[in-house]
Amino acid sequence: MPLDFAGSFSATASTAYWGLHGGFYPLKDGDTIAIVGASGSVGSFLVQLAQEWDVKIIAVASKKNEARLKELGADMFVDYRDPEAIEQHGKTADFVLDASLFNAGEHAALILAKENATYVGMTTLPDNSYRPDVKRVFLSRTPAMTNDIVIPYLFDFYEKHGLADQIAYTLPFTVDGVKEAHRLLEGTRNSGKIIFKV
Ligand SMILES: NC(=O)c1ccc[n+]([C@@H]2O[C@H](COP(=O)([O-])OP(=O)(O)OC[C@H]3O[C@@H](n4cnc5c(N)ncnc54)[C@H](OP(=O)(O)O)[C@@H]3O)[C@@H](O)[C@H]2O)c1
Repeated sequence: MPLDFAGSFSATASTAYWGLHGGFYPLKDGDTIAIVGASGSVGSFLVQLAQEWDVKIIAVASKKNEARLKELGADMFVDYRDPEAIEQHGKTADFVLDASLFNAGEHAALILAKENATYVGMTTLPDNSYRPDVKRVFLSRTPAMTNDIVIPYLFDFYEKHGLADQIAYTLPFTVDGVKEAHRLLEGTRNSGKIIFKV
């Protein structure tokens, strides 16, 4: 594993792992899952790790990321700026994982959820005024969710299937590089990780 990838993947790939393996929903072959924020760092690991099951994956992101998500294994793509496309896939997902930045995609996520589906939010939880039938869970790491479970799993997965990296920017580890990283975090930027090279 290249050092850049090793330095950038563990926090978000672990979050993706626990989203799928944390016991929130008993995922099974034949299910449909929706991954909102699928082009981001957590989301694209979700798309890749979910292929451990024989599930249909609906990836929700910006149109510009459609081809990449299909390459990563998404079966269907929905642009979150296209209300018709969201409605078209309405109530089709058994399990919805919302990895959109600050839950920006939560409304789309709830539209996609089947009756009585499970929604896992990575950032916060939507209130239950809309789609109260959907079970809502907030993914917070518990003491039982330890790295000695997830890191060996991820390395094993990487060796067997590979994992695409989610590095959006590589900057020099200098004062100017760090300033630039903050500027990117606070402004408009591509989804994915910012890493520094020493
Ligand atoms: N609970 C935990 O343990 C944990 C751990 C890590 C991260 N997080 C949280 O998870 C979230 C994602 O983190 P990340 O590092 O993966 O971020 P990221 O790489 O910046 O990805 C953000 C994702 O949000 C999507 N997005 C932006 N606006 C959207 C909208 N209006 N509707 C739907 N999707 C939208 C982006 O899509 P496009 O780029 O295609 O537009 C992208 O897929 C963050 O809020 C972070 O705080 C939680």
